[in-house]
Amino acid sequence: MSVTVTTLKKMKDASDKITWITAYDYSFASLVDGAGIDAILVGDSLGMVMQGHDTPVPVTIEDSVYHTQCVARGVSNAMVVGDLPFGSYQANKEQAYTNAVKLMQAGAHTIKLEGGELQVETIKFLVERGIAVCAHIGLTPQSVHQLGGFRVQGRGDAATRLVEDAVAIEQAGAFGVVLEAVPQALAAEITERLSIPTIGIGAGPKCDGQVLVLQDMLGIYPKKSPKFSKNYMDGAHTIANAIETYVGEVKSSAFPAQEHSFD
Ligand code: KIV
Repeated sequence: MSVTVTTLKKMKDASDKITWITAYDYSFASLVDGAGIDAILVGDSLGMVMQGHDTPVPVTIEDSVYHTQCVARGVSNAMVVGDLPFGSYQANKEQAYTNAVKLMQAGAHTIKLEGGELQVETIKFLVERGIAVCAHIGLTPQSVHQLGGFRVQGRGDAATRLVEDAVAIEQAGAFGVVLEAVPQALAAEITERLSIPTIGIGAGPKCDGQVLVLQDMLGIYPKKSPKFSKNYMDGAHTIANAIETYVGEVKSSAFPAQEHSFD
């Protein structure tokens, strides 16, 4: 591993855009790592793109551990982010710790969980025990049934709540925050307020970095990909070429464009 949480913080401070992508297996992890990505998220989106479910809810900690092990074997430069799936951390902070340890022992360098203020005690508990935590707010797919679908979050009065969540996450000691499907002006405000990096997905061009689901950006997911994704295989000669183009476009702020962002 050569990219660390310190690298990401320095990149934010230097306004050097951060690139994340998901991967779930050894071969793609090697390819993505070789294309120069900063971090690989072994996301619970694996429930959809690997397992064929409609949501990430069915993903278990055993699934996450297995895919994290596969990815970790293929990576030599990028930071590996393990994802705590639904039901593996919400019961209490001890449950979160036990399962975060499983992901770390599977090869994750850091972990991600969904939630803002409600997860503050858990984030603190993990950070105090040496685990680097990234939170995920906005559209949190594990709560898709409660949210009533995969919808843009943080519009109107909900914007204040999202800013408070982001500030609470930083104060709890998280090293970063994923902002999913939020209006671009709100993501820009949060990015400005925080000293930790924001990683956007459907959160406009002003985030410190971007993340895409691999199968969406390669156009190989058989179902509909979200508006905020972009198919980089169009016109690319190889998958490596498509990923390098994504990295270059994030670094130069060519992606995301307005058609991938929400107002
Ligand atoms: O699981 C995942 O892939 C994610 C990204 C969409 C950020 O959480």
